[in-house]
Amino acid sequence: MVDFQNSKTKNTVRQSCESLLVIEDVCTFYGDAQALKDICLTVKNNEIVAVLGSNGAGKTTLLKTLTGLLGIQRGKIVFNNETITDTPSHKIIRKGIACVPEGRQLFGAMTVSDTLLLGTYSLDKDERKKMQGARLEMIFDLFPVLRDRVNQASETLSGGEQQMLALGRALMSNPKFLVLDEPSLGLSPLLVKEMMNMLKLISRELGISILLVEQNARAAIKIADYIYILERGEVTLANTAQKVMASEKIQSAYLGA
Ligand SMILES: Nc1ncnc2c1ncn2[C@@H]1O[C@H](COP(=O)(O)OP(=O)(O)O)[C@@H](O)[C@H]1O
Ligand SMILES: [Mg+2]
Repeated sequence: MVDFQNSKTKNTVRQSCESLLVIEDVCTFYGDAQALKDICLTVKNNEIVAVLGSNGAGKTTLLKTLTGLLGIQRGKIVFNNETITDTPSHKIIRKGIACVPEGRQLFGAMTVSDTLLLGTYSLDKDERKKMQGARLEMIFDLFPVLRDRVNQASETLSGGEQQMLALGRALMSNPKFLVLDEPSLGLSPLLVKEMMNMLKLISRELGISILLVEQNARAAIKIADYIYILERGEVTLANTAQKVMASEKIQSAYLGA
């Protein structure tokens, strides 16, 4: 699709029958200020897509738009072959999209187990009862440290453990698709590496597609299949991670490498 030379061709949609998410020409405003300009972005089944961009580029706005927290002025969002434009966020979770928000947004006094159970809250009652025990076990198998800390308040966990908890809470709803807003923020380089490896494992083992929004381009590129670069609310580059990794020209132009 878009190569380096054509990287300003932002209206191209990378669409195929295996597309899980297609964002087409989406525009989002805060009042009169346009934060997203004709965004086109696709995530295919079993893919990890990274959206890279500096502070203020529009990354969080994009995730809030996708998860129904912000309305759009123009454009279309299709998830799993169903249009979800203007769908409220509690319904979006039921369709299989789970979010790990910016800054984790944990309630400090809430225990680890209650925080995880919160992740199933928007599912219907019967479904919740049926699946939550097995999901809890699965999360504890993925993150054994959470089992050890199950009755501790989340504010007593380390930064890395809190990020695992936020990820575990998102996985509790049994999503097909996981979106994460800067999960590396505030973590040491070693923990960032562990977090990225965990995302790769989750994607591969659980068959979950991932949209990863990051300022930490180097860490995200290592696990991503496809890269979008966002600048001032516009997609200025879309290409495979392999091509981005191989091109010093792209890296110096877009990633300050
Ligand atoms: N609630 C808001 N009201 C008005 N402008 C906002 C609001 N949130 C973000 N913005 C503006 O939208 C732009 C994109 O912000 P954001 O999506 O938070 O960027 P990023 O997550 O990439 O740092 C910035 O110019 C920011 O100032
Ligand atoms: Mg942000």
